[in-house]
Amino acid sequence: MKATLNPYNPGAGVPPPELAGRDDLIEQARVAVIRAKTGRAAKSAIMLGLRGVGKTVMLNAVEAIAEEQGCQTALLEIDPDKPLAQQLAPQLQHTLHRLDRMKKAGADLQKAFASLRSFGAMFKASIGEIEFGLAGPAATGDLTIDLTELLLAIGEAAKKRETAIVLLIDEIQYVQKGDLSALIMAMHKVSQRQSPILLFGAGLPQLAKLAGDAKSYAERLFDYPPIGPLSDTGARQALAGPAEREGVKYASDALDFVLEQTGRYPFFLQVWGAHCWEAAAKSPITLADAKKASIAATAALDEGIFKVRLARLTERQRSYALAMAGFGPEPVHSSDVANQLGLSLSQAAPIRDELIKKGMAYSPERGLIGFTVPKFDDYMRRTCTPKPPGRRKGKSAG
Ligand SMILES: Nc1ncnc2c1ncn2[C@@H]1O[C@H](COP(=O)(O)OP(=O)(O)OP(=O)(O)O)[C@@H](O)[C@H]1O
Ligand SMILES: [Mg+2]
Repeated sequence: MKATLNPYNPGAGVPPPELAGRDDLIEQARVAVIRAKTGRAAKSAIMLGLRGVGKTVMLNAVEAIAEEQGCQTALLEIDPDKPLAQQLAPQLQHTLHRLDRMKKAGADLQKAFASLRSFGAMFKASIGEIEFGLAGPAATGDLTIDLTELLLAIGEAAKKRETAIVLLIDEIQYVQKGDLSALIMAMHKVSQRQSPILLFGAGLPQLAKLAGDAKSYAERLFDYPPIGPLSDTGARQALAGPAEREGVKYASDALDFVLEQTGRYPFFLQVWGAHCWEAAAKSPITLADAKKASIAATAALDEGIFKVRLARLTERQRSYALAMAGFGPEPVHSSDVANQLGLSLSQAAPIRDELIKKGMAYSPERGLIGFTVPKFDDYMRRTCTPKPPGRRKGKSAG
């Protein structure tokens, strides 16, 4: 069918034609934002999920809700190579400028600007000129203390203007460990004081554990809504809804087939949808069309996503990943992977950690390891030198 009318939108962080199956999460976010804005206690949330489940899209949706409610937002995607303070400060400066535009500058706002200025200077954050601001409390160099001071000052200014600050942090698993604990401590103080600042984060699933390690009460401080494949209804809606608006239907067996092929993962639904549209000559999209589309979609993913990721791995990381893949799509015991490779646990552990650091793998709980990209196991089994799966012991690739 006409490429110009293809409604699907596969990509990173791009808005889907239909944000399906996330109504509850969106409602929870809306409630939290409104509560914060009206001076009530509200809980921050960190959405955890694999690659391509729609975390960035959800953060963007929360940002839109917050703006709709008249809150001030600051959205950032964490760069693993930079300290948090340097990434946060410029965003907070924008936020303060927007608060500044809401009402004539007051002493509270001046205090917040002053706090930001000393924070920026202390942590070498490049923020633009801050022309005004009283001499504020000097930063101490301890990120926990300084970030707490800064957030409380900003929160105070927001409260006076009857608004809330909504921080949106994507790829939050990349925040350096010490910084993460400082962020959690600061948010803890903020919530104790009922300051109108909310944090919505999104990251890979190992984050809950990371945060837990950072500060034990982090588990109570935040909600950690898991975000995964869509429900059956959600997936059908994500696929059929956009086509229907163009007057195109799916045969029911075609829809079933795509759901099965994609595992109901949002990114895959977009990819498959786009290829179904391409493969079909007219409505309805048939099972034969969907099967043709599936071959094209798989080839496109292999070339566009998987191959690039595989190329980023060193030889020993590749062997480790291949051994993992042998066990199938679910997370596997790292001891089994080590066995499979003929390595001891302590020999295999550094390779596993490298894969985690590269964002290729995650550990859902102690001792388990899984791929962050759904279907990557399948790709490896299809394209890399096959090794028999199972718990075979003995020497294989070292
Ligand atoms: N609820 C949804 N319904 C339909 N499509 C969705 C939904 N959520 C996300 N998508 C689509 O899935 C794709 C991936 O979304 P997004 O980039 O937000 O995922 P992500 O979890 O942030 O992935 P990554 O971990 O790689 O950053 C996009 O094409 C997006 O439009
Ligand atoms: Mg993302």
